[in-house]
Amino acid sequence: MNGETRILVLEDSLTDAEICEYEIKKEIPNCVFLRVETEEEYRKALEEFKPDLILSDYWLPRFTGMEALKIALLRDKELPFIVVTGSMNEETAVACIKAGAWDYVIKEHMKRLGKAVKAALEQKEMRRKRKGAEEERARLAAAVEQAGEIIFITDREGTIIYANPALEEVTGYSREEVLGKNPRIFKSGRHGEVFYQNLWDTITAGRTWRGRVVNRKKDGTLYTEEATISPIRGETGEITHFVAVKRDVTEFLTLQEEKERLQVQFIQAQKMESIGRLAGGIAHDFNNMLGVIIGHAEVAMAEMEEKSSIYQHLQEIRKAAERSAELTRQLLAFARRQPIEPKVLNINEVVKEMVSMLRRITPENIDLTFEAGENLWPVKADPTHINRLLVNLVTNARDAIRETGHIRLATANRKVDEAFCQGRPFCRIGEYVEITVSDDGIGMEEEMLSCIFEPFFTTKPAGEGTGMGLPIVYGIVKQHDGFIDVKSKPGFGTVFSVYLPRYKGKEMPEGMEKKVAASTAGEGEIILLVEDEVELLEIGRILCERLGYRVLAASSPREALELAERYRGKINLLITDMIMPGMNGVELAKRIQKICPDVRCILSSGYGAASVLPRESMEFLEKPYTIETLAAKIKAVLRGREGKKHG
Ligand SMILES: Nc1ncnc2c1ncn2[C@@H]1O[C@H](COP(=O)(O)OP(=O)(O)OP(=O)(O)O)[C@@H](O)[C@H]1O
Ligand SMILES: [Mg+2]
Repeated sequence: MNGETRILVLEDSLTDAEICEYEIKKEIPNCVFLRVETEEEYRKALEEFKPDLILSDYWLPRFTGMEALKIALLRDKELPFIVVTGSMNEETAVACIKAGAWDYVIKEHMKRLGKAVKAALEQKEMRRKRKGAEEERARLAAAVEQAGEIIFITDREGTIIYANPALEEVTGYSREEVLGKNPRIFKSGRHGEVFYQNLWDTITAGRTWRGRVVNRKKDGTLYTEEATISPIRGETGEITHFVAVKRDVTEFLTLQEEKERLQVQFIQAQKMESIGRLAGGIAHDFNNMLGVIIGHAEVAMAEMEEKSSIYQHLQEIRKAAERSAELTRQLLAFARRQPIEPKVLNINEVVKEMVSMLRRITPENIDLTFEAGENLWPVKADPTHINRLLVNLVTNARDAIRETGHIRLATANRKVDEAFCQGRPFCRIGEYVEITVSDDGIGMEEEMLSCIFEPFFTTKPAGEGTGMGLPIVYGIVKQHDGFIDVKSKPGFGTVFSVYLPRYKGKEMPEGMEKKVAASTAGEGEIILLVEDEVELLEIGRILCERLGYRVLAASSPREALELAERYRGKINLLITDMIMPGMNGVELAKRIQKICPDVRCILSSGYGAASVLPRESMEFLEKPYTIETLAAKIKAVLRGREGKKHG
């Protein structure tokens, strides 16, 4: 015992009190004493002196030891109280013990007092410690019982001897069902023997094991927990038990995965978008320059003898420029800036018409079949684009088949819901017509799938593939507000599924339109040609004049309006660029039509037509154009068919 011990002595005899003091100091030298006689003093001393122990005479002038005991117990049940009394009163002393006194000492045997006080104080200390320990244990037990984490304890053999309520909540097993069992009952089959062996080796070696475990609930569903399993050691240091603390992280992991999936999807979409912008921008400028090259080459060729070597060179220039124009057209298709002329279609008809052509581009050893879906919904799409899409996908399928194989085309109506969209980056909920092109060719690795829609990604040798096939498919599908899904497995084959939105309007599907054959001769009709790029304007003028038309050339919309106002005769046709500073082609066409009501119009552009072209659809001429396409277009608009007027 450290520090001084405070002893309150309730005793009317000073001598007796001194004897007590003397006897106690023999055992406990470091003591302070306070002697009181009356109840009043006694009560005051309890408050202020705060004794560690009380010694009380039994008989006092106006007070008894029993009364003093009751007062002391009321105040503190754990305060040692020793009765000191004459041998005559031993019976009353015994009564005091029954009432809660700790001990009694007969005055005739005062020598025992020191030891009695010491024993009482030691017992008090022991009781205090035990009580503290009990409280702590109760606190710990409550914490473990109420913890949100699963906590269970096993013996050295792994038998569960304790489990908290959280275990019942997460796993569905009641406490009774798991007690006495091995944690094996939670096994999901997702981890091999090595996994469990490693866990067991770690904890039996006295170390803590941490990790994620997939376990099975009572109802059979799987959940993932984050677990910490530690050995518990006994007093001698040997392992007596193991404690497992676990948290169900299934929901957290699902959210995490979803977040990562969205992130990947977002980055992928952004990448495609920026590649698209870049490609579209470059292609537009290229187109204009190629228009100038092709035009001048054609004009020069027209002035030469076909046999001349310069004619041959010019022809090569023209061919190269046309091939380049084809490439820029592909880039524009990817960038979704290719003009589209959507019609309400039955995709089955489009595919059926294409099948024989597709068979021609696939060798004999490849079987090509088409399974047309029944009662297919209509879609609104540009048939030439759908043809293109089919050719590109079938070509790829063909190239993926090494010897013999099967390419399967199929169509079907598809309702796409949220569950379907899970894990499919570009998917959106809705009703679609699905076109599937599957092959049993070489297939692709997972990593490759994320690059195949990027322009110029190819695994084919130089000269065999440009890597523009799928980007074009991607562009076309995007432009039609659809999406593509690819599934592939190396060695097994690939399935491309194109989803085009169901058309819900009233228009009926059209049959395929046959193109009007072109003839080139103009008869001096007046064409108002508007183009802000001067070189293009110039070559356009030359080409139109070669075709037998007369040309009013304007390098801006304002100039065009002035020309139209001033010109006395009849203007038959307006050919205008789509995108010009100050006013776009559509706007200009409307204003020119006010001045010359009968004029027909052709809008010409390298891109952007789809979004700007009004629904009533003015005629459209894609840039760059050759003299033939120009001739055919003009002829078609002026004579071949009813010129569509802008309403
Ligand atoms: N059905 C398929 N099976 C296996 N791999 C394919 C399939 N379709 C595409 N690929 C892979 O994707 C790459 C890109 O295809 P994409 O059509 O864009 O370009 P390409 O076929 O290489 O060249 P291009 O189509 O311009 O001639 C191909 O090189 C090929 O590796
Ligand atoms: Mg290809």
